[in-house]
Amino acid sequence: MTSWLDANRRNWDDRVAVHVTSDFYGVEEWLANAPGPDPMEAALVGEVAGRHLVHLQCHFGMDTLQWARAGAHVTGVDFSEAAIAAASALAERAGLAERATFVLSEVAGAPAALGRRYDVVYVSLGSLCWLPKIEEWADTVAALLAPGGTLLVHDVHPLAFSLADDGVSFAYSYFEEAEPVVNDEPSTYTDGGSLTHVTTFEWNHSLGEIVTALATRGLTITHLTEHDWTHFRNFDDLVEGPRGIFRAPEGAVRRPLSFTLVARG
Ligand SMILES: C[S@@+](CC[C@H](N)C(=O)[O-])C[C@H]1O[C@@H](n2cnc3c(N)ncnc32)[C@H](O)[C@@H]1O
Repeated sequence: MTSWLDANRRNWDDRVAVHVTSDFYGVEEWLANAPGPDPMEAALVGEVAGRHLVHLQCHFGMDTLQWARAGAHVTGVDFSEAAIAAASALAERAGLAERATFVLSEVAGAPAALGRRYDVVYVSLGSLCWLPKIEEWADTVAALLAPGGTLLVHDVHPLAFSLADDGVSFAYSYFEEAEPVVNDEPSTYTDGGSLTHVTTFEWNHSLGEIVTALATRGLTITHLTEHDWTHFRNFDDLVEGPRGIFRAPEGAVRRPLSFTLVARG
């Protein structure tokens, strides 16, 4: 029988080719505009020039490489061979290969695969839901973060994960459960493309579970903001605003769609 990890890996392998050529990610425009890190994220992390940053679940490297543009030495980690190959190719095309390394590894195996600690550990949108146990993820973060280093997580809010497509009624547990949420979805969140490996396994983790998993490993939480916006239309009623931000329409119930958390090692 296919394990959840293999099933998710195959699904993400399929998504890479679709995403790299999608309007959603807009690789050609990104190469032309050469953006640095998201200003809000950059303000939370502080100066990164000359610092070593590891991005867990880096996909094909766009979020990772933006930190390299700000002068960081970046390492992206992902369990998808296709993602790592695409990320390495993108680093070359962006002229950032000297400051960027991409490593094939499952999240839990990253400390052994990398063999060092980092000034910044970074986790970006759409990541934690692919991991069954937040305690294991926190072990990985604690093993990778240098003393005094900074963790930045900017991910989908767990309340948003628990809502149905209408964005208002509950469909899934808000809390981490042993049983995964299993989906059979032939498409992905970008425009176009169809996937061969359609079955995925996901888990929610409440905000309290995330914070406590980090705090009990000795990290100090210095910032936690819940945002009423996110960067993709995960509910039918969301409307797009400036800078690729989606939020509920005027008059609709305001709900948390993403969150940013900063912790110090
Ligand atoms: C939505 S992307 C997050 C990165 C970024 N926000 C983006 O959109 O490019 C999720 C990534 O998690 C990776 N992933 C999922 N489960 C993983 C695991 N157990 N270990 C390592 N990578 C994993 C997938 O291959 C995928 O590239």
